[in-house]
Amino acid sequence: MLNMDNFLKEIDYALEVLENHSNSSSKDEKLSADEKKQSQRVMRVNHMGEVCAQALYRGQAFTTDETSTKELILKMCSEERDHLGMCGDRIGELSGRTSYFNVLWYASSFMLGAYVGRLTKEKSLGFIFETEEQVEKHLDQYTDKLPKNDKKSRDILLEIKKDETKHKETARELGSTKLSDQTRNFMSLSSRVMKKVSFYF
Ligand SMILES: [Fe+2]
Ligand SMILES: [Fe+2]
Repeated sequence: MLNMDNFLKEIDYALEVLENHSNSSSKDEKLSADEKKQSQRVMRVNHMGEVCAQALYRGQAFTTDETSTKELILKMCSEERDHLGMCGDRIGELSGRTSYFNVLWYASSFMLGAYVGRLTKEKSLGFIFETEEQVEKHLDQYTDKLPKNDKKSRDILLEIKKDETKHKETARELGSTKLSDQTRNFMSLSSRVMKKVSFYF
C-alpha cells in the first residue's frame, strides 16, 4: 500500500531536483556567441537526462521491495545527483537555462521507474543496464556536438560517462536480463524525442 510519508518525501525530493541552481555565470570563456549557444543546448539536454535519471531511480527505488536492490539503486541515484549538479553548474557558467519541460520529464520518468520497480529483479536490473547503455551512446554523440573550444563541458561529459559505464557493469554483474527489442526501441525513441525538445526548449 502507498505510504503517505514516503510519498511526500518523494515530492520534496522532486522539488529539490527541479529547483534551478544554475546562476554562476563566468566570463572567461573563449567561446563565440554561436559556440556558447550550442554548448548551452548540449548541456541542457544532458541536464535533462540527469533529471530523468533522478526520477527513474527514485521511482524504481520507491516500488522495489527487495532491500539490496533498493540500496543499490539509491547509491547509483546519489552518483547521478552529482552529475545533475555538474550539468547545472556548467549551464550557469554558460549563462544558459534548463529545459522548460523538466517537471514533465521528471513525472513521466518517475512513473516509468515505479513501474519497472515492480518487475522481477532481473528485469529491473535489465532496465538499468539498457538505460545506462543508451546513456553511454548518447554521451559519445553529444560530446561530438560540443564546440571544439568547450573543453570544460567535454571534460564534464567524459567524467559522467565513467560512472554510467560503471552503473551498466554493476547491473550486468548482478544478473540483469536483456530487454525485448520492442522495449529497447521504445526507450530509445522516447529519449530521442525528449532530447530533441530539450535541445531548444
Ligand atoms: Fe548520470
Ligand atoms: Fe548512471
